[in-house]
Amino acid sequence: MDYTQQKVIETRKLLLSSERLKTLADKSDVSKAKELRELYQYIGTLPTEQRAAFGKEVNQLRDEIVEKLDSIRELDQSLTPIDLSAPFDINLPIEQQPKLLTADHGSIHPLMRELATILDIFYRMGFTAIESRQIDDDFHMFGSLNFPVGHPARDDYDTFITKEGLIAPAHTSTMQNRVLKQYKTDLEADLPIAVVIPGRVFRNEDMDARHEHTFYQLEGIYVDKTIHAGNLIATLKTFFQAYYTKDLDIKIQPFYFPFTEPSFELVMSCPFCSKKGCSVCSQVGWIEMVGCGMIHPNVLSAANIDPTKYSGFAWGGGIDRLVMMKYNIEDIRYFEAGKLDFLRQFL
Ligand code: DAH
Repeated sequence: MDYTQQKVIETRKLLLSSERLKTLADKSDVSKAKELRELYQYIGTLPTEQRAAFGKEVNQLRDEIVEKLDSIRELDQSLTPIDLSAPFDINLPIEQQPKLLTADHGSIHPLMRELATILDIFYRMGFTAIESRQIDDDFHMFGSLNFPVGHPARDDYDTFITKEGLIAPAHTSTMQNRVLKQYKTDLEADLPIAVVIPGRVFRNEDMDARHEHTFYQLEGIYVDKTIHAGNLIATLKTFFQAYYTKDLDIKIQPFYFPFTEPSFELVMSCPFCSKKGCSVCSQVGWIEMVGCGMIHPNVLSAANIDPTKYSGFAWGGGIDRLVMMKYNIEDIRYFEAGKLDFLRQFL
């Protein structure tokens, strides 16, 4: 790059810096800007044959800065000022209330929109939904879920803990004990417990396109007399087929969770390539979707439900991943990033 080009680039950078732009009101300010004047003066020092081309470049730079100022002004005028500190005063008429952005400036987050679809499928299967909590304790995170103190399985749920010992839940299973206790009366009335629990969960992760410190899970619990693993498989197969509007094959493979016995990982045939192999299923044709199993007798007992009388199944899996697969979203971090160009694709 020759010296003249270098000079134009440097001047452009200086003038477009936000600090410098703030000091320029209009076209005449730009024309008078000392950085530009230096460039104009410099024209005279160049060999005659280079002057026209260089002059043209400097003029283009001037026009670019003026355009930038115009677009900032337009944007400023189109936005209603927001005073976030302004309280809503119930004694004032609506016209005199602080001008906050109205709801129609926002949109439903893609995860919440999908969650509504997901819950709708479970409502039609007779489930109730309860949202999980975003702060919890050791008993609900571990003790009630049959993780003995010091058990290595606790390490799989590495999350954030406050100085007081409160825990940012690493999974929605923290709700199992509460839900079992709350709905125990249904069992006594000869009704099943059928509850899904969506919620935000947290993990101490090394973040990349597939790992976020904050994400969403959906937990499910079903308890009644004579419930067996076939009921679990049928329920989840029905759900996945409804969500991906497609017939799917399901496999279960053995796994370990302290709170289920036996424990499984449920694997689904890839809804996008019908087992042929594609980028969504990493070319294997099958995708691991949820952890699940038959609720451990100790978990039922911890909620005062008699495991010799009742049995049940439970499952838990990521909502983000379901949605990423459905819409071909390549990076989980988009969901929490507040990126408007991402969010606006789901208006
Ligand atoms: N909580 C487990 C996890 O986040 C997933 C899970 C597995 C939930 C089995 C369950 C279950 O309810 O029965 O890894």
